[in-house]
Amino acid sequence: MSRLVVISNRVAVPKARGAAGAQGGLAGALLAALKRHTGLWVGWSGEEHDDPALEPDVQTADGVTTATIDLAPTDVEEYYNGYANSTLWPLFHYRIDLTEYRRETGKGYERVNEIFAAAAAPLIEPDDIVWVHDYHFIPLGERLRRHGVANKLGFFLHIPWPPTRLLVSLPYHERLVRTLLEYDLIGFQCDEWLESFLHYCRKELGAEVDEASGKITLGERTVTARAYPIGIDYEHFMAQGETGEARNAQQRMIASTRRRTAMIGVDRLDYSKGLPERLDGLARFFERYPERARELVFIQIAPPSREDISSYQQIREELERKTGHINGAYSQIDMVPIRYVNQGHSMAELFGIYRAAKIGLVTPLRDGMNLVAKEYVAAQDPEDPGVLILSRFAGAAQQLQDAVLVNPHSPDDITHAIRTALDMPLDERKARWEKLNAGVRDENIAQWTNDFVGDLTIA
Ligand code: F6P
Repeated sequence: MSRLVVISNRVAVPKARGAAGAQGGLAGALLAALKRHTGLWVGWSGEEHDDPALEPDVQTADGVTTATIDLAPTDVEEYYNGYANSTLWPLFHYRIDLTEYRRETGKGYERVNEIFAAAAAPLIEPDDIVWVHDYHFIPLGERLRRHGVANKLGFFLHIPWPPTRLLVSLPYHERLVRTLLEYDLIGFQCDEWLESFLHYCRKELGAEVDEASGKITLGERTVTARAYPIGIDYEHFMAQGETGEARNAQQRMIASTRRRTAMIGVDRLDYSKGLPERLDGLARFFERYPERARELVFIQIAPPSREDISSYQQIREELERKTGHINGAYSQIDMVPIRYVNQGHSMAELFGIYRAAKIGLVTPLRDGMNLVAKEYVAAQDPEDPGVLILSRFAGAAQQLQDAVLVNPHSPDDITHAIRTALDMPLDERKARWEKLNAGVRDENIAQWTNDFVGDLTIA
């Protein structure tokens, strides 16, 4: 079997800053993928140095070999905080109002892609299969080709692909998208993002597109684009439920919520996650059903993320304000409606927290996939499962149709969904959960990896 070389900005090495708590689903998913293939994981160490070494630091731990490089502070500012997270991230999440277009960050993005290509190319052997991840590295494939890498190259986008009408507001959008066609296989989380990409290729690049097969032909080159919905590492996650840490977290939740229904939200503190809108929905629920306020306690876990970027600082302030306001208005001497927690939690603790919560509230305004929704389902007690409320704008909604689907922009919709969840009879909860859980169990991380790598091998 060929070796798998994975390249992503975040790498789950012990040394990486931010590896715990706020990392999102990507690093965990790739760790699981690499445990199933012999391979190498290349990325950023999470460290900044004024004069970083160009040679990667290679380490092997728990059977996974990583090669990481440090970046200079200007690189982090222009590539990570700048073009990746102040231009591409907001634009790809349909937030054109938050999107910054700055020439120097675009240059920094290209420069850092070149740094990674130069570091990775010598590590790639002729039979390796190379799989590049996410919006940080769109042009990396083209850069690797310039370094003489002739291997099969795959790219997977973990976030949404925006509609063409939004994407064309990006200066040099065509140049950026053309670089994607240097990969042999391009993967998206769900059909909607794939369709937007194919539409762009046809309308803006003038490519010939075969919708059924996802084949895109431009000049001499034909590449394939398809949807590969990512799943969770089901077995590993279920094993977390057996730990004392999970049981302890579950007990703490149960003991501290007594006779009230616990509703849980777990998200990186990001404006795409719809957190203020979620709180507006909750406030509407309390306003409309004041007599039911004592039935519910909402626990929002939101570890801070990308704290150097002003839009993230603003969302944090907004959430603090709204939480304080709602708690002030609806608390009583013996109960507080919202617990707002900024710390990250381990996978085992999250298992226990999800299991104790009878409602999972996952309402991003836009999300590539959303693995919290899948983890919440997997952690439920089959005899007394909770209800998942899920945004119809998360990629996960394509698969999790038996959740209570909501428009996250509508406080009325959220209110209605909370009431539906609180009142749902056990039979209906079980019937919905069984279908949801079968999908989460079967469409798991192993299947995702095998499907993508299998297709890339023959691309
Ligand atoms: O899944 C999207 C993503 O941006 C990943 O690429 C990333 O690892 C994760 O969210 C967390 O973000 P960050 O790496 O910027 O902390």
